[in-house]
Amino acid sequence: MEASDKKRNAAKAALEFIQPGMILGVGTGSTVDFLIEMLPVIRDKIDRVVSSSKASTKLLEEHGFEVATLNEVGDYDIYVDGADESNKRLQLIKGGGGALTREKILAAAARRFICIVDDSKLVGMLGKFPLPIEVLPMAQEMVSRRLVKMRGQPVWREGFITDNGNHILDVHDLQITNPLEMEARINRIPGVVTVGIFAERTADILLIGEDSGVREMRV
Ligand code: 5RP
Repeated sequence: MEASDKKRNAAKAALEFIQPGMILGVGTGSTVDFLIEMLPVIRDKIDRVVSSSKASTKLLEEHGFEVATLNEVGDYDIYVDGADESNKRLQLIKGGGGALTREKILAAAARRFICIVDDSKLVGMLGKFPLPIEVLPMAQEMVSRRLVKMRGQPVWREGFITDNGNHILDVHDLQITNPLEMEARINRIPGVVTVGIFAERTADILLIGEDSGVREMRV
């Protein structure tokens, strides 16, 4: 089965978790795009929608949804998003699409976070996927030097500006043996806006699209 079919199946499985009257947070990426395309089917169940990126907002609006702000909805019911990697503890690397800051905020405000992936995303140890870090442009070089001291190889995602007007560093070769500790350590570097390790706020449920169907993992 193609990865795109596995992503579509994982997205479809997430629909089951959306109960009538819920406020839904929507992530960013190709897996979430499948979800957005299916959302009109359960439109009546959804009270309001919040979005993690301009791209997802645009797609939601194209499908007839009015997008609320997080300030309007406060803490809310359920966040559905993809990931670049997940380990068995449902600690994630996110930010391949560059939307990690708003994604982390929406994940933090949600009572439940459902992560939808194809089975290539499940790994033993996080870090094979280059770790995205959103940085203030003026701090990019300083942050890069700090990351090199941590034995990472930061590469500027040239030409890419985040929805917040910042830059992304993709850090190769990091040994993320302790995701919680690494997340906190990188967060402490001045100029870092968000690190793409989601270990403090993990997913609650991982839906993995596989050849045989969709497997569910919980923490
Ligand atoms: C965007 C993300 C995405 O969830 C991640 O990149 C996975 O994307 P896809 O669903 O296209 O595989 O973190 O910032």
